[in-house]
Amino acid sequence: MKAVIVYWTGSGNTQIMADSIQEAIEDMDLECEYYQVSETSAEDVKDADIFFLGSPAMNDENVEEYEFRPFQDDLNPHLSGKKVVMFGSYDWGEAEWMENWKQEMNDVGAQIMDTFVVQWEPNDDQLKEIYDKTQEIMK
Ligand SMILES: Cc1cc2nc3c(=O)[nH]c(=O)nc-3n(C[C@H](O)[C@H](O)[C@H](O)COP(=O)(O)O)c2cc1C
Repeated sequence: MKAVIVYWTGSGNTQIMADSIQEAIEDMDLECEYYQVSETSAEDVKDADIFFLGSPAMNDENVEEYEFRPFQDDLNPHLSGKKVVMFGSYDWGEAEWMENWKQEMNDVGAQIMDTFVVQWEPNDDQLKEIYDKTQEIMK
């Protein structure tokens, strides 16, 4: 199963989560491509079997608007029936951005395997949970 991680981060919190996901997959000796969203395109990653998509809450409870949003829009036509995990960090809201994102993924027919949500910077317990859940999903 080919996994791809694509994320945007402003201050590093979502990147720390992405790193745990990558570590979990690589520790299972499975194939994993890892990109900041500016380094790739939907065309490049669309054939993956499972997508780990990361963005913090931005732009009034949405994914980041200038780099991640165009990528997500381009990827959506390829997500029907595909496994997806969304992850990211938020601050002052009530993680509504993830609810909006779930709705969007359901609307395009993706199979949501899980979501990883943390407020601010993830702590060690949260990272361990992300690691363990990722390995469970990748089994
Ligand atoms: C321009 C901007 C918009 C934001 N919008 C929201 C928001 O709508 N809801 C929220 O809970 N947090 C919001 N935040 C806070 C970020 O989601 C939070 O700081 C997060 O930890 C950043 O993750 P990162 O370190 O991966 O960039 C916003 C931050 C910035 C800079």
